[in-house]
Amino acid sequence: MMKNIATLQTDLMGAIGSADTLDALEAVRIAALGKQGSVSALLKTMGSMSPEERQTQGPIINGLRESITSALASKKADLETADLNRRLASERVDMTLPAPETPRGTVHPVSQVMDELAEIFADMGFAVAEGPEIEDDWHNFTALNIPETHPARAMHDTFYFPDEMARDGQKMVLRTHTSPVQIRTMTSQEPPIRIIAPGRVYRSDSDATHTPMFHQIEGLVIDKGIHLGHLKWTLETFLKAYFEREDVVLRLRPSYFPFTEPSVEVDVGYSVVNGKRVIGGAEGWMEVLGSGMVHRKVIEACGLDPDVWQGFAFGTGVDRLAMLKYGMDDLRAFFDGDNRWLQHYGFNALDVPTLSGGVGA
Ligand code: DAH
Repeated sequence: MMKNIATLQTDLMGAIGSADTLDALEAVRIAALGKQGSVSALLKTMGSMSPEERQTQGPIINGLRESITSALASKKADLETADLNRRLASERVDMTLPAPETPRGTVHPVSQVMDELAEIFADMGFAVAEGPEIEDDWHNFTALNIPETHPARAMHDTFYFPDEMARDGQKMVLRTHTSPVQIRTMTSQEPPIRIIAPGRVYRSDSDATHTPMFHQIEGLVIDKGIHLGHLKWTLETFLKAYFEREDVVLRLRPSYFPFTEPSVEVDVGYSVVNGKRVIGGAEGWMEVLGSGMVHRKVIEACGLDPDVWQGFAFGTGVDRLAMLKYGMDDLRAFFDGDNRWLQHYGFNALDVPTLSGGVGA
């Protein structure tokens, strides 16, 4: 018996050593440890042994099983490593392959419009500014002359963070507009200031024309002797460049925003061509943005003297601007990530908007 076990061990170790594929190794495993295997057969004999016999034979047979099991495992690991190395050596990425003739991804209309806006305003000397999407109550409301009791707070359907997340005693919110970037810029930068601030904003609202997250762009100019005429010229120049038409007509309507005084709402005229609204002319009016002269209180809240510095500000929805120019009618589709929609409305990645080449791509 002892002799047999020793021979069996030598034979099995030999077979394991010479197995040169995972399949061959598996065959050895089955022959030894499978239901009908030689080692399994030995294990079964223990049941009919006398207690004395079992005491001497048991450890030998179990030792055999253990040594075979571990030899199988280490050989398996070796074969797998060898296999991987073989694949790594034979499979290569051919870096010389030419790029596909037509790139498959597209630039989302919102990104495209933001690039167009940055290009248009850069030409007028505006820098791009940014602010956090998780904003504190002071920047989002108070400094913009929207005190706690102001009804505009309710108008914004604000997403508030729980009280435990307050920072420096300030309740935190998901910013409801890009206007807080006005405050962040005025408190961190010396005037004169000319910035635009595109970005995501959040409100608890959802239907065909509202999504809980959408995009706005803010504009701010702070300098000496700024008046409504500067505002009107800037918006007119911007909208003509954006819609790529000289016949864009603006209508400024008196309005109310807490952070501007006076406040103006700006409409652009449209004409009806083949039953469709086309920007240009003045057959009808569409509201495109809110604006006004920056309120004295806002300038003061930022530590500037409103008798020295004046300015104008404007804000509008980027998604809406995209819809007006490129003819989409359901805002929700913007954020569905549907590849067919993106193929249809998206832009070629190489079509970078430039003023000289036409911002409209
Ligand atoms: N923050 C306003 C909103 O979300 C838009 C706006 C209106 C921004 C007038 C301005 C402005 O800068 O002057 O509805």
